[in-house]
Amino acid sequence: MENITEPKKRILSGIQPSGALTLGNYVGALRNWVQLQKEDIYECYYMIADLHAITVRQEPAALRKNCMDLLAIFIACGLDPEKEPIFFQSHVPAHTQLGWVLDCNTYMGELSRMTQFKDKSKKHENNINAGLFTYPALMAADILLYQADLVPVGKDQTQHLELARDLAQRFNNAYSDTFKVPEGYIPKVGAKIMSLQEPTQKMSKSDPNENSYILMLVPIDKVVKKIKRAVTDSGSEVKRGEGKEGVENLMSIYSAVTGKTMEDIELEFEGKGYGDFKGAVAEAVAETLKPIQEKHADLIKNKDYLETVYKRGAEMANKTAMKTVSKVYRKVGFIQP
Ligand code: TRP
Repeated sequence: MENITEPKKRILSGIQPSGALTLGNYVGALRNWVQLQKEDIYECYYMIADLHAITVRQEPAALRKNCMDLLAIFIACGLDPEKEPIFFQSHVPAHTQLGWVLDCNTYMGELSRMTQFKDKSKKHENNINAGLFTYPALMAADILLYQADLVPVGKDQTQHLELARDLAQRFNNAYSDTFKVPEGYIPKVGAKIMSLQEPTQKMSKSDPNENSYILMLVPIDKVVKKIKRAVTDSGSEVKRGEGKEGVENLMSIYSAVTGKTMEDIELEFEGKGYGDFKGAVAEAVAETLKPIQEKHADLIKNKDYLETVYKRGAEMANKTAMKTVSKVYRKVGFIQP
């Protein structure tokens, strides 16, 4: 018999609204989020990390647009806003509240070692601000506030997740058991989609070569062109292997959007050339993106509906998050208001 007293494990994840999403974001994150929510064995909190976005200078109007676009994309991809909270991080003050306490429990040395900080400092040389530096402690707050068991993240976030675990343990040791120590959840297939032009690098919308990435809201005919132009190799076999990073990347894209395994794909295209293969990949990607784009276009016109979604999300998130903050404030010795 089902054990109904056992509470569901909780999941928390977030995406920054710092620009248009790529197919990599969909395959590596959103698609899995939807899957995890559908499995119904987890309680899923999904957040638009707007506080994180301003660690890099944002144009206010563009930030507003990106935030609403992202919310509409979440729902268009299949996340159910009726079921569990979808919210804006800035609507839940507990994030900054716990963020400060964690700042005071994080060492400069730990933050200095973060590779993302080093990368971003190089990229934004004239705006190396304190928020960019302490960002991993805010991310730890995002996670620990909800007592999350599992955190689906890309490989580039594992160092931040490790810090969240360390901070949870450090706080628990210093002030008695308070935080759940979260585990990472890194999906096996398609976790990382690479550039279509330089398949040893991650697909990124900040790549100066437009042909290297596919945006989720790109016109469909462009998807086909970009995939047809994707770099392969001088061979002709649809197979994984040394020097075949381009083909392998297209295979993982195809695998992610069709659910076929890499072995299935190798069999499917045995004796066929890259032209046939790319045609199939392009068609599968187009078929995946088209319904999402249509739904997004509908939703983005319906501001009232989106507002009810994010208000409800914030209300639910606030309730959970405030419980943790109250506990933490009490434990560190603040007088109860
Ligand atoms: N830092 C993450 C990124 O840039 C986004 C993020 C913010 C996040 N808070 C989070 C992811 C909490 C997981 C959990 O991709």
